[in-house]
Amino acid sequence: MTESIRFLLPGPSYVTNEVREAMTAPSIGHRGPDFKALYASLQSPLQAVFRTTSDVLMASGSATLVMESAVVSTVRRSVLHCTCGAFAERWLEISRCHGLDADELSAPWGEAIDPDLLRQALRRKSYDAVTITHNETSTGVLNPLAELAAVVREESAALVLVDCVSGLGGAPFETDAWGIDIALAGTQKALAAPPGIVLFTFSPRARAQAEKKELRGFYTDLLRYLRYHAKQGTITTPPIPILYALERQLEVLVEEGLEERWRRHAELRTQTEQWATERGYTYASAPDCGSPTVSCLRPPAGVDPPALVQGLAARGVTVGGGYGRWKPETFRIGHMGEVRTEDLGALFADIEEVAGQLS
Ligand SMILES: Cc1ncc(COP(=O)(O)O)c(C=O)c1O
Repeated sequence: MTESIRFLLPGPSYVTNEVREAMTAPSIGHRGPDFKALYASLQSPLQAVFRTTSDVLMASGSATLVMESAVVSTVRRSVLHCTCGAFAERWLEISRCHGLDADELSAPWGEAIDPDLLRQALRRKSYDAVTITHNETSTGVLNPLAELAAVVREESAALVLVDCVSGLGGAPFETDAWGIDIALAGTQKALAAPPGIVLFTFSPRARAQAEKKELRGFYTDLLRYLRYHAKQGTITTPPIPILYALERQLEVLVEEGLEERWRRHAELRTQTEQWATERGYTYASAPDCGSPTVSCLRPPAGVDPPALVQGLAARGVTVGGGYGRWKPETFRIGHMGEVRTEDLGALFADIEEVAGQLS
């Protein structure tokens, strides 16, 4: 029986009862044979999710850890950050915190990165890496990643570092076919497992570049993760209950089928768009780059977004508020993970009732 979902944050997303129950399995040591078997068993479903034949590594922490590790491990001199919202800007800030020569190619909030502008930027200067946020959660924008990655490959030798945190498992994503060097995602978004683990790929090109960099930190050294991965292990104590949950949730995902999951998310987006158009809610993101996992909306005149979010919370329904500078004017629906059409239908009815009381 599918559970009805009233928790529609754009991450962390709803975790089903059976996946939460998987976390109650007994403790095991993370250097022993039981853990190695668990770790090894996750490889094949993770490779399927990332669409790669390479290894998928994991770090204990939140996704930001591997955003930081990716630049610390591979960028010796300069990095270009493609930004179109708060999470991409965070990556830029991380590079600047490390004193790297970090440039920004920015699109206005709500718009996607333009491949032609990226091409021009790469012709002006050479970079060790380019960072791209596939699905910008603060604005609900899905970037044309295949095209952007192709531009980087055509114009330069720069690594393609990708944050696929809120898209992986919900939006089409191809690590190998699109030539992504590092793809990183937390477990807590469209994958619908609890937060606490970062999953990432690490291409031979990225490894070669990391080997040339002398100081990569400890917790941020991706080559260290690779050495432990070879022994079916993590560099430090992992949150083992989260891995049990991930193991169960990956079975659910494989059973549904990745492409079917992409199709379901696209349908959730269409359903949201239809409802929004009928009821006078407007998308804050441009129409040609809509995310299948997050809708960032402006309500009709007279409905204050923070009051709407609060009104929904009062009746046990959770959606996301606006993010950063868009906080006062937008709210966000996370239609990701295990959310179904019926859940969205019920949410829209709740929104209409609460909005009716506010306006
Ligand atoms: C696109 C994107 N990147 C990065 C992050 C940061 O993830 P974490 O909070 O797991 O560090 C988030 C979190 O919402 C996100 O949506």
